[in-house]
Amino acid sequence: MRAETLTIQYQVYDAVSDLSDHHRNLLEAARAATGQAYAPYSNFHVGAAVYADANQIMTGTNQENASFPVGICAERVLLSALACLPVLPKVELMAISYNSILMESNLPLSPCGMCRQALAEFETRQGMPLQLLLAGMEGPIWHFQRIGDLLPFAFQGKHLIRP
Ligand code: THU
Repeated sequence: MRAETLTIQYQVYDAVSDLSDHHRNLLEAARAATGQAYAPYSNFHVGAAVYADANQIMTGTNQENASFPVGICAERVLLSALACLPVLPKVELMAISYNSILMESNLPLSPCGMCRQALAEFETRQGMPLQLLLAGMEGPIWHFQRIGDLLPFAFQGKHLIRP
């Protein structure tokens, strides 16, 4: 037997003023998108944003449903929209934020497990790392360099024997 250790490195920014314009603009787009979320059941409004190309930002928001499991997270709404474009864009970075009338929004959002799995597949599909910028409406910002850092040992297509 031997013990293995996994170390994950990520960057912490104390404020948006510490971000590059490129990153700040995307985070502000994710924050603004929380206003388009449909979250009457949780009141947890999530916004996700990516650069679909050099100039265009695309956003996604969570879409809830009276039948709770039907609801979809912001990240997967956005990934699905991207996958419907005529040419799958290469996504270098996704910013994700949230807003709520029930709680403060001053800690980074932690994407749910299902979204991590979906992000991991998208990352594999595009063949390059997908970075994450995670934040609330204020407070610190976490920057992860790849989805694998948030979902180590992910189950992947390579683990399946395909006909
Ligand atoms: N939610 C997201 O949109 N993304 C996440 O990463 C975490 C959770 C949504 C799902 C649901 O509409 C609400 O937040 C509360 O769980």
